[in-house]
Amino acid sequence: MLIEWSKDLETGVTFVDADHKVLINLLNQVDDCIDENEETTVLGSVLDALVEYTDYHFLREEKMMELCGYTGLGTHKATHRVLSTQVREVYEGFQADPASVRPIDIRDFLQSWLVDHIMGSDFAYRDTCVNDPDAADAAGQVSFLQNGKPFSEWEHIRVMLVDDNPNFRRLIRTILRAVGIKNIQIVESPDEGISRLADRPADVVLCDWVMDDMNGTEFARKVDELQLPTRVVMMTGYSIDVLKERSSDLGVAGYIEKPVKARTLLETISKVAMTVPMGVKLKV
Ligand SMILES: [Fe+2]
Repeated sequence: MLIEWSKDLETGVTFVDADHKVLINLLNQVDDCIDENEETTVLGSVLDALVEYTDYHFLREEKMMELCGYTGLGTHKATHRVLSTQVREVYEGFQADPASVRPIDIRDFLQSWLVDHIMGSDFAYRDTCVNDPDAADAAGQVSFLQNGKPFSEWEHIRVMLVDDNPNFRRLIRTILRAVGIKNIQIVESPDEGISRLADRPADVVLCDWVMDDMNGTEFARKVDELQLPTRVVMMTGYSIDVLKERSSDLGVAGYIEKPVKARTLLETISKVAMTVPMGVKLKV
C-alpha cells in the first residue's frame, strides 16, 4: 500500500471525502497489482475502475462547485481535465501493452492527485462549499450508473462475491462499497460460498467461472439445488459465449466479462437484484 487516508486530506464535504477514499484505494490497488505481477484481467479491471471513478468524481465535484457559485470553477475544471487525461493515458498504454504500466506512473499520478489537487485545489473551495450543504447534497446524488438515474436500493442489496484472486476481491469490495452497498460477503472458494449462503442469504452472487476446487457452473448448480431466491452472475476472462453454452440450464442471471468495467458490474447487479422474488429481499 502506498498511502493511507488521513484527516489531513479531509475537505469536510462528505461525498467528496468518500470519493477521494475510493480513488486512493484504487491507486493503492493498481500499485499492489504491479508489485505482484498480477494477471492482466485484474490490473485491467482496477485501471478501468480508476478511470471511470475519476471521471464520475470530477462530474459531481464540478456540479457542486457550480451550484455553490464557486469563482474558481474554471481553473479547477482545467486541472480536472489534466488529471483525467493523465489517468486515461496510463489506461490506454496498458490496453496497448499491459507491461507499459509502471509503478512510477501510478506514484506520479498519486502525487499530483494528493498533494497538488486535494490539498491544493480542493481545499480552495472548502469554505464556499462546506457552507452550502444543499449544493453538496444535490451533487452527491449524481448517479454512477450510465443512465444517470439514482438507484436507491444499494443499501438493501445483499451481495456475495466468490473469487479466488485476492486483488480482484479487494477491487470488487471497493466498487460495491463506493455506491453504498453495505451487506457484502466476500469468500475465497465456492464451497465456502455454498455453506455461507444457507445462514446468510444473498440476493446476488458474483462468481468467477474458473476456480481451483470447483468451477462456476458447478457452483451455480449447487446454488440452484439450495432453492434460494439468489441470483448468480458469472464473471470470466474467457469467452462469454462458451460460458453461456455451458451454463444454459442453470438459470444464470447475468454474465460479466473480465476485465470488469465498474459501471457494467453495478448496472448488472442493480438489474439482477430487481428480479429476486419480492418480499424476500429488497425493501422497495
Ligand atoms: Fe477536484
